[in-house]
Amino acid sequence: MGKEALYLPQITRTQRCRAQVLAVTSGKGGVGKTNIAANLGICLAASHKKVVLVDADMSLGNLDVLMNINSKYNISHMLSGQKSIEEIIHVGPEGTEIICGASGIESLAEVGEFQRHRLLAELTRLQRDSDAIIIDTAAGISRSVVGFCLAADHVLVVTTCEATAMTDAYGMIKVLVGNRFDGRISLVVNMAETIAAGRKTYQQLAQVARRFLDIHVYDAGVLVKDERLRSAVRKRTPVVLAYPKSQISASLAALASRLGNGLAAQTDDVGFFGKVVNWFF
Ligand SMILES: Nc1ncnc2c1ncn2[C@@H]1O[C@H](COP(=O)(O)OP(=O)(O)OP(=O)(O)O)[C@@H](O)[C@H]1O
Ligand SMILES: [Mg+2]
Repeated sequence: MGKEALYLPQITRTQRCRAQVLAVTSGKGGVGKTNIAANLGICLAASHKKVVLVDADMSLGNLDVLMNINSKYNISHMLSGQKSIEEIIHVGPEGTEIICGASGIESLAEVGEFQRHRLLAELTRLQRDSDAIIIDTAAGISRSVVGFCLAADHVLVVTTCEATAMTDAYGMIKVLVGNRFDGRISLVVNMAETIAAGRKTYQQLAQVARRFLDIHVYDAGVLVKDERLRSAVRKRTPVVLAYPKSQISASLAALASRLGNGLAAQTDDVGFFGKVVNWFF
C-alpha cells in the first residue's frame, strides 16, 4: 500500500474542495507578505467570501500580532487533543477565520495515525466550507515553505524593487517550476516608490522567467510605499481598516477583487491539506 493510501483518509478522495488556496510567499524576508495576506483576506471577507487565513510561518509568524488577536492555541493543541478545530480558529475582522501556528503540521510526524487522519479530515472540511484559504508563509525556500506553495492553487510572490528581493523572488519561482508546480504564479511588487518603478520591476522579472524558465508570471499589481501602512502596523490594525480611503487600501482592494473573481468552485480530489501532508511525509 502506498504512502498516500495510508495517510489520506478516504474522505479527501471523494470530497469537493471548494476553497481556492493562495500562498503568499517571497524569497526575501520583510517584503510585506503578512500585511498583504491579512489585508487581502479582509477585503475578500468584506465582499462576502468565507476566508481562512493560515499563519504558516514556522518561527516568526506574526499574523496574530498584525491582526491583534491572542493566539494562545494553534494546530499543535488540536493535534494533542486539547482543543477542537473550532477552538483554534480565531475570528478576525470582517469574519476572517485565522489559524495560527501551522508549524504544528510539522509535528505530524510524531503523532499517531488516528490524530493525523482527524486533522486532515477537519482541515479538509474547512476547505470545503470556505471560499479562500490564504497562507502566509515564512521567507526563504525551506522545505516547508515550498511544500505549502506547491500545495496551493495560486502562489502570490511578493517582491520589492530591490535587486536582492527580485533575485530571491526569482529563486522561489525557479524552485516552484523545478518542482513542477502546476498552479498560477503571480507577482506583486510592494513598497514601490512609484507605480512606474513597480511596473518596471514586474516586467524585468516576468521577462527573465519567460526567457529562462519558459513560464508566464501573472501581474498581480504594484503597491506603493506608504507611511500609513507602517502606522497601521504600529496600531496592530490592517491598513484597509485603519486607513480605508488611502491609495494603498484601494490597491489592496483592487488586488483582492481580481483574485476574488478567480474563486469559482472547483473540484479537487486531494485538496490543499492532503497535498501538504503528502509533501511532509
Ligand atoms: N507598502 C508598504 N509601505 C510601507 N511600508 C511597508 C509596506 N509593506 C510593508 N511595509 C513595511 O514592511 C514591514 C514588514 O512587512 P511584513 O511583516 O508584512 O513583511 P513579511 O514579508 O511578512 O516579513 P517576514 O518575512 O518577516 O514574514 C511592515 O511592518 C511595514 O513596516
Ligand atoms: Mg510575515
